Amino acid sequence: MMINGLLLVVVEMVIVVGLPGFPSVEGLRMDYYYMSCPFAEMIVRNTVDSALRRDPTLAAGLVRMHFHDCFIEGCDGSVLIDSTKRNTAEKDSPANLSLRGYEVIDNAKEQIEAQCPGVVSCSDILAMAARDAVVWSGGPAYDIPKGRKDGRRSRIEDTINLPPPSFNASQLIDIFGKHGFTAQEMVALSGAHTLGVARCSSFKQRLSNQDRSMDSSIAKMLSRTCSRGDNAEQPLDPTSTDFDNAYFGALQGKAGVLFSDQALFSSPQTRGLVNSYAMNQAMFFFDFQWAMIKMGTLDVKEGSGGEVRSNCRRIN
Ligand code: HEM
Repeated sequence: MMINGLLLVVVEMVIVVGLPGFPSVEGLRMDYYYMSCPFAEMIVRNTVDSALRRDPTLAAGLVRMHFHDCFIEGCDGSVLIDSTKRNTAEKDSPANLSLRGYEVIDNAKEQIEAQCPGVVSCSDILAMAARDAVVWSGGPAYDIPKGRKDGRRSRIEDTINLPPPSFNASQLIDIFGKHGFTAQEMVALSGAHTLGVARCSSFKQRLSNQDRSMDSSIAKMLSRTCSRGDNAEQPLDPTSTDFDNAYFGALQGKAGVLFSDQALFSSPQTRGLVNSYAMNQAMFFFDFQWAMIKMGTLDVKEGSGGEVRSNCRRIN
């Protein structure tokens, strides 16, 4: 009897709070849509899957979009909102102009609305899509709590709080610290640069500054990319559609693309973490998934603090 009782309490805890050890946030639950929209996760997964089969590089876009959503006003889908005549939204800020994958979110939302209208928030769809993009690319598989609500504010001026690629390690530690992250979590999250590309405009300053943290062959490669213009793209690591730890190995070889990436190896504050993740992919995956779950709960809105948008691009 006692054992049965204990089991019940444990099962209840897992259902209400989430898995033991996961950061618990009021209003969020792993099984949030279990009754109200049981196929939501599957619809997102299938939508991401077919989009990435057509264009594997979109995985990077979805992961980055989730980060840019969460860092500005919390994970509330504010990055998805279109500008109007009266309001220039976050997505039109220079820091967000190269975000990609909006149509994947729209597509999943449309299918979900057809099954359970007004139930699943755009911020949850984005969080699930980013997670599925990581798994699809070969990264860790993990569950995330759901139940975020969508915000009603999206202003270009708020995006000033995104970290620029000119930041050094102390500045990165500081800005992530303001959101409650440790230096280790910041370095693990930066490992998302195992996916995707940067445009010349994000690293050309390193060339004119003759940045000494760069290996000369990388400097030549970046110059070649920039000879094709500001929007020319450079993969952030040698395996830019595979989620692996090659990014950290590249930093050890002074082959990071962004100044802010290479800064993680240049600084004694974070170099040890780069070395650990370069040596031990399992450790990187483990830390990355935890940091992503934490990032996905930043300042989430619940109840009257938000809404469930019916179109992710517009406030209801
Ligand atoms: C540590 C501070 C960070 C800085 C300074 C930074 C900066 C940048 C910049 C400048 C780019 C290239 C944008 C372009 O040229 O179009 C980029 C790309 C990217 N970032 Fe970050 N980032 C940071 C952290 C993160 C985090 C925490 C994530 C996700 C968890 C992330 C995910 C990505 C991805 C996946 C791309 C590639 C996007 C694509 O190919 O479309 N970044 N980042």
